[in-house]
Amino acid sequence: IAEVKGGADQGLGRVGQSLSIMGWVRTLRSQSSVTFIEINDGSCLSNLQCVMNPDAEGYHQVESGSVLTGASISVQGTIVASQGTKQKVELKVDKIIVVGKCDSSYPIQKKRVSREFLRTKAHLRPRTNTFGAVARVRNALAYATHKFFQESGFVWVASPIITASDCEGAGEQFCVTTLIPSSHETTDSSIDAFQNKGRVGRLVSDFMVVLYSLTSQDFFGKPALDSLWATQWRNLCHRLSDVYTFGPTFRAENSNTSRHLAEFWMIEPELAFADLNDDMACATAYLQYVVKYVLDNCKEDMEFFDTWIDKGIIHRLSEVVEKEFLQLGYTDAIELLLKANKKFEFPVHNRGGFRGRPVIIRDYPKEIKAFYMRENDDGKTVAAMDMLVPRIGELIGGSQREERLEVLEARLDELKLDKESYWWYLDLRYGSVPHAGFGLGFERLVQFATGIDNIRDVIPFPRSPGSADF
Ligand code: 4AD
Ligand code: MG
Repeated sequence: IAEVKGGADQGLGRVGQSLSIMGWVRTLRSQSSVTFIEINDGSCLSNLQCVMNPDAEGYHQVESGSVLTGASISVQGTIVASQGTKQKVELKVDKIIVVGKCDSSYPIQKKRVSREFLRTKAHLRPRTNTFGAVARVRNALAYATHKFFQESGFVWVASPIITASDCEGAGEQFCVTTLIPSSHETTDSSIDAFQNKGRVGRLVSDFMVVLYSLTSQDFFGKPALDSLWATQWRNLCHRLSDVYTFGPTFRAENSNTSRHLAEFWMIEPELAFADLNDDMACATAYLQYVVKYVLDNCKEDMEFFDTWIDKGIIHRLSEVVEKEFLQLGYTDAIELLLKANKKFEFPVHNRGGFRGRPVIIRDYPKEIKAFYMRENDDGKTVAAMDMLVPRIGELIGGSQREERLEVLEARLDELKLDKESYWWYLDLRYGSVPHAGFGLGFERLVQFATGIDNIRDVIPFPRSPGSADF
């Protein structure tokens, strides 16, 4: 359908061509001798209107009531100019085959239903306009992400998810444990692991088993999966060139907010021979690139979001692409907030702030940041940066890394971290170079690009406290 209706002429150039379409019925309405079926195949937001007379092959299935909203059908016919005002072309049907029936208990009927309700039907919700559009924009953002980094000479690497090393204090780790997939019972050893509230669980090789355990347990009561520790691993590949990862991340933080998930995707580039300014420039160029990609390539879906989800989003995103982002030192930002003398609640909904554009805050106090961030000359702050965006707050967190062996060792000592267990990280100081990187929460990016306000609605199967049922 995207191919037929997506062109500048909205399909008029194809009038007279024959076409076969497979998809799902959105609506069906019959007038005396003609039946209209709106069919959608997931390729785009638009439906294709199919017009059918009783002489069409397979028409008896329409008469017998087999063609209801949600049914899958295959139709063949000819593209004709439409008499209607809503579309330029429609399909004059010669033949219809009902592939899979649907009855009136189908939960995704034409009427509007709440997004909360649809979260309980996560397996069916991509069939709605909103979630179909989100899925396509999410896909475009993922594609544009690889495109941006590949075109910029980065090498994609995979970092491991299971680790016995302590992370950067970003939320609790899950324990890794085993469950017997075919039953819902745990093994003795996994019960031990569940009961062991220690931070590091036992390692297992079969990751699917681990994920399975999330589906049947209240995993916040009983930590079930080891948390991701990716940041430092990518340093191992660092001498390859500039690198990036793009994959799932796990955090057992029990934050029931519209911006946190227990399982989310992160994009993490790491740049060699680079400082914090290079890092911020890369983050800015990346964000502008992927936003522009979506504006250029997902026009119909973006217009849908602009109309139904977040008025004016297209205009605001265009400004993100075109205008520079504001940069502020952490200390200056705090001063501004104090001067404003207002109570700020997070996330800040005021789109007027910083004229609705992203702002980068840099040079955070070292006490609130991870050990590996590079100490600034003042001895108090580190070369860290966060990119904050309207409506969502933190989209990106990154830093220049400490490349000086003696400063790094002193910092580990200061934080009473065990140098022995960081032996490999310290090894990377052989032929050390200035380097920097950042992490971007992919679901928050999808929220930013679509205007969807809850993070649970931009990932197909959200995992958060109390929701891992599917
Ligand atoms: O700021 P964070 O914790 O930074 C890191 O993890 C660094 N290791 C990244 C790096 O330097 N390579 O997380 C990075 C981003 C956040 O800015 C946020 O967008 C997202 O990941 N994020 C989450 N998204 C959804 N749910 C959660 N629970 C998230 N926690 C972080
Ligand atoms: Mg952060």
